[in-house]
Amino acid sequence: MHRELRRELWMALAITGGVAALAAVAGYPLAGVAAGLGLVAALSLRKLARLHRWLVRGRRAPIPELGGLWDEVIREIHRQDRDSERHKERLTGLFDRLQAAASVMPDAMVVLARHDVIEWANPPAERLLGLRIERDTGARIVHLIRDPAFGAYLAAGDYREPLILKGPVEPMAVTLQIIPFGANERLVMARDITHVKRLEDMRQHFVADVSHELRTPLTVLHGFLETFADLFEGQDGEVRSGIALMREQVERMRRLVDDLLALSRLETTPARAHDDVVDMGALLKGLADIATVLGADRGQRIEVENCGADLVGNVDELRSAFTNLVQNAVRHTPAGGSIRLVWRADASEGRFVVIDSGEGIAERHIPFLTQRFYRVDSDRSRASGGTGLGLAIVAKVLLRHDARLAVESVLGRGSTFTCVFPSSRLKFPPDPSRAPPPTV
Ligand SMILES: Nc1ncnc2c1ncn2[C@@H]1O[C@H](COP(=O)(O)OP(=O)(O)O)[C@@H](O)[C@H]1O
Ligand SMILES: [Mg+2]
Repeated sequence: MHRELRRELWMALAITGGVAALAAVAGYPLAGVAAGLGLVAALSLRKLARLHRWLVRGRRAPIPELGGLWDEVIREIHRQDRDSERHKERLTGLFDRLQAAASVMPDAMVVLARHDVIEWANPPAERLLGLRIERDTGARIVHLIRDPAFGAYLAAGDYREPLILKGPVEPMAVTLQIIPFGANERLVMARDITHVKRLEDMRQHFVADVSHELRTPLTVLHGFLETFADLFEGQDGEVRSGIALMREQVERMRRLVDDLLALSRLETTPARAHDDVVDMGALLKGLADIATVLGADRGQRIEVENCGADLVGNVDELRSAFTNLVQNAVRHTPAGGSIRLVWRADASEGRFVVIDSGEGIAERHIPFLTQRFYRVDSDRSRASGGTGLGLAIVAKVLLRHDARLAVESVLGRGSTFTCVFPSSRLKFPPDPSRAPPPTV
């Protein structure tokens, strides 16, 4: 480069010098220098004009031969051109391959631009989401996937849990996940779970049917065992203790069947339009009575605290969930212990809390308590009449009430089970003196 520059300079000097020398002979040396410089400038301008023309023609015309430094400049432009062309080709190739990979994927993918407009979709989006790629690109997705649950999910912006939707044709079911990216874009992914859903439905119906079928034989057995117990009343011996044991086990089976049926009802029936206003005063009183009766032989202290607000929901479901928590507290609290039932609400949320001073639960068990049949100590749970389904029922009921369960416990000190309800589920009495305290 330096060499070329030097040559260019020498050339300019030579031309100027030559013209100046000629002019000096004629007696005009200064005018000669000026004319020489002018000639150099004119030659350079001509080359510049040719270079400009070549650039303007999109560089497809044959590369002009300008010589010296100019050729260097052109070669550099040409090299950069080729590099960027190759880079573009590589990117296009990569994009084509990505698009090809996305089309053979079994899952649907839809890229949403601003305002949820469909920018791109792969072919499975047609089968799983009912879109027509050609027709629907550029349209807003909420106008095409009409299920209100989808609109609400998209708008809510909380995509931690996937959404399960009916597919465009019966009995297809899809699970759908949204992943935000870029400034305002979102990726919608959908997967066919028809098969999984069918198995899950079969499982639920099987459990419900078996539980239902077991009810009648158990009632018959129960009835006869009552009669036999009366017949052998007052007699000693194996038969009587056998009958007592059978009654106990039949009773346990009845409880299991009832809990299984309650669980499958919660799983298979749609959540009701929760428009009952549950009188929490009456519900708390009923729960305190249950605690007193269940713990009658233990002399536990039962305390109730009521904030006066009411809860909007399904009274039977809520009663069943709260009763389970109260039963657990009574079962796991020794004689002389205390159980507190607290109902507090403010403008932001409502909390139903069962606090016991019982045996407590080791921390490692806490995440699993709401799983079906999970017990910390199964022998003890069975002996105390537990089925291991209580907290699973509680969790299902709370889910249907947009609520969550929080568990805190210290081994040997006691446990606190809290049901947290959102403010949308609360109803405060009109009396201003009992209005909710403002949240700060
Ligand atoms: N208040 C409590 N104190 C101590 N342990 C508890 C309490 N509540 C629940 N648990 C533990 O959680 C397990 C699961 O509870 P649950 O689902 O109601 O089943 P169970 O039928 O055994 O009561 C129980 O077996 C028990 O070990
Ligand atoms: Mg229980």
